[in-house]
Amino acid sequence: MSSGNQYSKDRRQFLITSGSAIAGAVMATSAGAVLAKPSMERKRRVALVGTGIRGTNFWGKNLVDNYGDVLEFVALCDINPGRVTFAKSFMNVSCPTFTDFDEMLEKVPLDLLLVCTTDATHDEFIVKGLNHDIDVITEKPMTTDETKCAAIVNAQRKSKSKLIMGFNYRYGHLFTELKDLLHKNEVGRLVSIDLNWYLNVHHGSAYFRRWHGERDKSGTLLLHKSAHHFDLLNWWIDSDPVEVHAFGALEFYGKNNPFRGKNCRDCRYTKKCQFYWDINETEFNQRLYTDNEKFDGYIRDNCLWRKEVDIFDKMVVQIRYANNVQVSYSLSTYSPYEGFRLAFNGFDGRMETWEGLPWLEAQQTDQSKIYETGMAINQHSLKELDNFEISISENFKGYRQIKLPYIRRGHWGGDKVMTDAIFRGISPKKDYGQAATVRDGSMAVLIGIAARKSIDEGRMIKITELTDLKPKVKRSA
Ligand SMILES: NC(=O)c1ccc[n+]([C@@H]2O[C@H](COP(=O)([O-])OP(=O)(O)OC[C@H]3O[C@@H](n4cnc5c(N)ncnc54)[C@H](O)[C@@H]3O)[C@@H](O)[C@H]2O)c1
Repeated sequence: MSSGNQYSKDRRQFLITSGSAIAGAVMATSAGAVLAKPSMERKRRVALVGTGIRGTNFWGKNLVDNYGDVLEFVALCDINPGRVTFAKSFMNVSCPTFTDFDEMLEKVPLDLLLVCTTDATHDEFIVKGLNHDIDVITEKPMTTDETKCAAIVNAQRKSKSKLIMGFNYRYGHLFTELKDLLHKNEVGRLVSIDLNWYLNVHHGSAYFRRWHGERDKSGTLLLHKSAHHFDLLNWWIDSDPVEVHAFGALEFYGKNNPFRGKNCRDCRYTKKCQFYWDINETEFNQRLYTDNEKFDGYIRDNCLWRKEVDIFDKMVVQIRYANNVQVSYSLSTYSPYEGFRLAFNGFDGRMETWEGLPWLEAQQTDQSKIYETGMAINQHSLKELDNFEISISENFKGYRQIKLPYIRRGHWGGDKVMTDAIFRGISPKKDYGQAATVRDGSMAVLIGIAARKSIDEGRMIKITELTDLKPKVKRSA
């Protein structure tokens, strides 16, 4: 019997013994991809491929610690034998480890596969998982080119199981609130969105130190990073992208610096280079990465001035949607501060918000309250002033501001809301179909792929050049 048949049988058995018919087992959280209900009789059998930082922490230890009552890790896989062994001890699990994915699929019956490898390799594991009728959750970006995207879409069409995109931003407090306000028609008919995202010199540079800086591994930041932003835009606009035009360049990192070293640890420019980073400062990084370099040569603290860097470090993208909404987007990677500016323009007004702009954050500190606090007998905390602001301006009228509690940990609080939805079936308080499907994953990466192609070829790209998915005017219809 082929391993595929074995797993299909096991999976059917799992769904039957879970006491719920397949149709009924699908949770009612939203229209998107969701898992079958957790079984009361046995835990969901989970394997993780890619035991790097996101895998071991978020999809690893976090799930073991917080969802151990509904799932159990039955296998871990990584091409690096040292890293997968470390992951096993860090996650405190007793399952077998593998360096060969196919061997793992052959030997271990699974209900769910978590894909957390380098971006350009996601497709291999997603397709194999779906072909074995195993549910798959993948990290973003779903994949990095249009051929791989088509292979995933086709595998999903044939599979009895589901691909779930780990788009945690959608579940984030601020972003869900914006979706809610759009749904309530706060700006009237939506016509355009301006989104400028700024990665600061610490966060932005981190992408140029390792595999993300090489386009054959990350697909460029238009995939690796912007897939999050493009997905949010698609979800807010509730329509599919049809045309993309972009510019981009590599002007700061990589070959652009006059000096470079082997990596940060062994560099003779540590005093001179403002980007010096000591990877061994934390024991975790040492045990996860540097201790295991000998197995595969993966250097986590590469020189960000190395000549192999071939991604863009500044990018602007314009997108037209099937419902005629237009987007103007940019991503910067060496900003002095981390944040974004975001505005929704409609027939009736404009809604905007921001994060991280230092001078606006300073304004949030109400001067009168500072005085009050200083004078108060009962100590006031200025914490209550820390919030997100959404400003809504109405045509021919004034503006009003909505203040939201500042929740920034765990991707605007979205990580926990997402895992509660996926593993416990708890709907987000404001449920707007956050559970993301293969189609959502595709449309997000197709914008990035189109933007990259537009930069390479100097022309506007139609999304239909890259996929047989038909653009919908209204996605949720
Ligand atoms: N959603 C989010 O907010 C978020 C945050 C961080 C990372 N991520 C995503 O998580 C994924 C992993 O990122 P990371 O920062 O943990 O990277 P990482 O480099 O720390 O880990 C990647 C791991 O994949 C392994 N790997 C590579 N090729 C493999 C293969 N063919 N077979 C098996 N293992 C293989 C590597 O050895 C490494 O251990 C990426 O896709 C990234 O986009 C998402």
